[in-house]
Amino acid sequence: MKVLVVGKGGREHAIALAISKSPQVDQLYCAPGNPGMSNIATLVPIQDHEITKLVNFAKEEKIDLTVVGPEASLALGIVDEFEKAGLTIFGPNKQATQIESSKEFAKKIMKKYHVPTASYESFSSFASADEYLKQTSYPKVIKFNGLAAGKGVIIAKTYDEARQAIMDIFIQKVFGEGNIIIEEYLEGPEFSLMAFVGDKKVYPMVLAQDHKRAFDHDLGPNTGGMGAYSPVDFITDEDVQYAVEKIMKPTILGLEEEGIHYQGVLYGGLMKTKDGIKVIEFNARFGDPETEVVLPRLTSDIVSIFMGIATHQHQFSVQWSPLKTVGVVLASKGYPGYYESGYLIEGLDQVDAVIYHMGTKELNHQYYTNGGRVLFLVSQGENMDEAIDKVYHEIEKIHCENLYYRKDIAYQVRSQK
Ligand code: AMP
Ligand code: GLY
Repeated sequence: MKVLVVGKGGREHAIALAISKSPQVDQLYCAPGNPGMSNIATLVPIQDHEITKLVNFAKEEKIDLTVVGPEASLALGIVDEFEKAGLTIFGPNKQATQIESSKEFAKKIMKKYHVPTASYESFSSFASADEYLKQTSYPKVIKFNGLAAGKGVIIAKTYDEARQAIMDIFIQKVFGEGNIIIEEYLEGPEFSLMAFVGDKKVYPMVLAQDHKRAFDHDLGPNTGGMGAYSPVDFITDEDVQYAVEKIMKPTILGLEEEGIHYQGVLYGGLMKTKDGIKVIEFNARFGDPETEVVLPRLTSDIVSIFMGIATHQHQFSVQWSPLKTVGVVLASKGYPGYYESGYLIEGLDQVDAVIYHMGTKELNHQYYTNGGRVLFLVSQGENMDEAIDKVYHEIEKIHCENLYYRKDIAYQVRSQK
């Protein structure tokens, strides 16, 4: 079988690695992929937004299955175009992707189908939002109603902060054209529940948690994620069952009710509040970096799952290893703000851990930094402490003058703090 993975980050590296282990796969391609994948996949120089080129490539190469990583490709309608061309692809179509690409759409579905989430109001002008903000209580959460690369969420503690946020959005148009929703502020630990979804069926994956802040003790600016771990022991089996039955399934059935068929991964960004589990956000794809710690625990053949869902067969099993998994991001100094690239990375060949590349380039068989988040190291252990100690032991072997990492990933689940 020939399989194509679309995307180039750590998430796609993890998807590609899982696919490469399937006995069904003869040839694996990744477009555009990253240099760390070149030992498991053939890299194809087509970017993830070049949908027509990707369709043509898949037709010419007779690709049997395509798996999409990034939300941007999904929001552009890559699945619709592949399906029109008669190609098998795993991922939601453009309409279904709105569960991520439009916060308002997601909220409307949740409200209509009684999926627990923060209460909200929508606003399409500065004046109407400002009016509301003057008389509401704080904190409030302001969300840009579109894809904003993780930056479109502002937690405003005061009216002044909220006003600044709506000025940025409506007057400065920092995220482009669009409206906003203003949400009730929720409190509690967050976790990620991803599920394989197709034909109204929901197959939950094991839980993960990511660390969004740049520095130790969850301080500093928000990032795309500085580390992650799986499982998340402070979330009970009953919590998971509740999340599957009262959140994931009603959302999928609600979408079907609206005439929208969902196949692919549904990612629930969930919070355990004092009033129960609530949805913070949905994503229409594998999470990054959660995928990098979840997929190493999958013991079933991922290609059977992807194919089963994409072809409506559902003859597969979804089994998980009990091993604890911890992953730590090595990021360029300065990230998520200004950073420099092009620094030599040494010692990678000494590392006894899974290394996912997030932002590297290769020159004369040497790797250099080439992005904000550069590498993601993942280790497993019988218990969390072992997995944590292992990943931090291995990370010491990497030498690069411009990289930093958090020292406290998975601290919530460590037995010795
Ligand atoms: P999102 O992009 O929607 O996941 O939001 C990014 C982060 O903002 C989340 O991971 C939460 O930590 C925080 N957040 C979003 N919505 C809320 C909310 N209603 N209450 C509290 N925190 C929130
Ligand atoms: N880790 C959060 C996300 O993938 O959006």
